[in-house]
Amino acid sequence: MTKTLSSKPLLMANWKMNLLPHEAIDLVTKLIKLPLSLDTNLVFAPPYPYLALIEPVLKDYANICLGAQDLSVHHIGAYTGEVAGKMLKAVGVKYVLVGHSERREYHKETNVLLENKLLRAWEEQLIPVLCVGETSELRAEGQYLEYIRGQIHSVLPTECLDKVGELVIAYEPIWAIGTGKTASPAEVQEVHAYIRQVLAEFKLENTSILYGGSVKPENADDLFAMADVDGALVGGASLQLDPMQAIIQRFVKAFSKE
Ligand code: PGA
Repeated sequence: MTKTLSSKPLLMANWKMNLLPHEAIDLVTKLIKLPLSLDTNLVFAPPYPYLALIEPVLKDYANICLGAQDLSVHHIGAYTGEVAGKMLKAVGVKYVLVGHSERREYHKETNVLLENKLLRAWEEQLIPVLCVGETSELRAEGQYLEYIRGQIHSVLPTECLDKVGELVIAYEPIWAIGTGKTASPAEVQEVHAYIRQVLAEFKLENTSILYGGSVKPENADDLFAMADVDGALVGGASLQLDPMQAIIQRFVKAFSKE
């Protein structure tokens, strides 16, 4: 399958609530030694307390950036336990996950909240990585495309499109996250092509669309070969050196133009 659009290839590691500081530094220091090409971009999203520790390690690498796993819907103020977009920006964060299914489920994040989080991210010139994806029930009922369309439509502002900044979408079918069960390349391509059409309604068809859900070295080549897959959001496999190295190498091979 040939890739036709000009979306930016991106590979993002979502460490969730894992690793101790020395393990995080050790892992990232080894992973950034792998050669990247000009066209490929790598993002590490560590737990909040490690952002400022990892930032200096990444500083000299133009294509390797810092990501955060969430941001507060509030501006700076009396919100115990929250972290504002402005703070993330100040410690060097470039990308921020918004609406990961674990936050939607465990923290009851609603589409209204997520719409406001997107606006907060853009206000701070952060690039939100909006996560969408269906449950196994919705897939079995054949309702997944409409559901994903609804997830996108209910969080992207339709009226004030001028407020919309750069965006990344991560398609993460809930049944594939952390389960070892990956969506097949054809299933992923169907949803990504559909998401691209939905984004075109917002004139955002060049948005990068990542796949997430049990990405590992064994399935990375086939997923990256799909026309509308622009990279991946990797959880479990990004916590260990060997599998993440292998995924990075496959990503660079699949997306380098040189
Ligand atoms: P996984 O997680 O790779 O462990 O399935 C992906 C994610 O939740 O972002």
